[in-house]
Amino acid sequence: MTHRAQSSACLLCQSVQGLGQVGSRAPKPSRIHGPTRYAPPVLPTIDYLEYAIRHFGKTAFDLASSGAPPVQATELGYEAPDDPEARQRFLWAIAGRFQVPMEALVPALGASGALYAVCQNLVTPGACVAVEEPGYEPLWRIPEALGARVVRFPRGDDVGAMLEHIGAQPRLVIVSNPHNPTARVLSDDQLVELANGLGDGRWLLVDEVYRELAAPLSSVFGKAPNVITINSTTKCLGVPWARAGWITAPAELVAGLRRSELYSVGNAPPGCFAWGAAAVEQATWLLERVTKLQRGKRERVDAWVAAHTEQLIGGPAFEESLFVWIERRDGASLLPWLEAVREELGITISPGQFFGAPQGMRLSFTLGEEQLGQALERLESRLGEL
Ligand SMILES: Cc1ncc(COP(=O)(O)O)c(C=O)c1O
Repeated sequence: MTHRAQSSACLLCQSVQGLGQVGSRAPKPSRIHGPTRYAPPVLPTIDYLEYAIRHFGKTAFDLASSGAPPVQATELGYEAPDDPEARQRFLWAIAGRFQVPMEALVPALGASGALYAVCQNLVTPGACVAVEEPGYEPLWRIPEALGARVVRFPRGDDVGAMLEHIGAQPRLVIVSNPHNPTARVLSDDQLVELANGLGDGRWLLVDEVYRELAAPLSSVFGKAPNVITINSTTKCLGVPWARAGWITAPAELVAGLRRSELYSVGNAPPGCFAWGAAAVEQATWLLERVTKLQRGKRERVDAWVAAHTEQLIGGPAFEESLFVWIERRDGASLLPWLEAVREELGITISPGQFFGAPQGMRLSFTLGEEQLGQALERLESRLGEL
């Protein structure tokens, strides 16, 4: 085996083993490397997503899934999977709801597809990209996989401090707002200050997948000339299965962003956009549904955190958030405890480790209220270990 082939294959094993350290039911690394001569570059693992696929929703108590409980297709009505008008209908619905120009919109397969398209267009090998920390792993993994030099900056409320950390090099800066995982929100004025601070020819990409919960019917798009936004029907509307996402971008980027689809999936399935249109058109009741489903749960979680301040510090989250961020008071990693709690109590919580903040956890409360109460009660028995 050549050195290149060997090192590449070992990298793959390492990533599988690396996951094994956090996931107790990790598969044994398979011996996939035969007498290979050519070793193609291996995409780095996205540990958070692999962990989520393996564990979220797979235990008795799911305090990890961060989106509204999925609505069923039948509740949205009927949509033809081959409707050729669906794509346009989807864009009309978005333009109307968020008051953004049709010409600025690019449909995509989820916010994930939108993120990839933006990075594919703006990231060249060796380019510098700045991404918030803590942060949702794909926000930095995707630029990294496209060859960017990724720098991280602490996500905070002080825009001047963030700009100082970002420095002069990055051409693209990526944030989520509301922030995953802390559920803190920068105001549009702050985002505009950040965009203006970057200045001409440097882009601010804002991932708005949680925004409808904090500021319905709105987007920061258009408030500064160098802002790009991405969004989808996944998190706030409870329609993750449609894979209906979109980009809102300044005019000079739109043609390239639209071309991305031809380079990846060819033509995205019209059915995705048909369901996306149905979701955005019916967003008002879908959001009301979430409010009803969530009633009383946040107070319960806040009271639980407040009762355990000896071990835990709760962060401020926006009022309608579906999750809160909690840190361990002594600053040590919460991962071993979260692993034990998952294995022994059947409670899955999203480890801060995957967001770059091992001392924290993102506790979601999208499960039923009774189950939430039971999970919080069970967790109490283990808090003495922290
Ligand atoms: C900040 C953020 N952006 C994007 C996504 C992915 O969204 P979608 O399901 O629309 O691809 C997620 C999902 O967890 C997320 O938390």
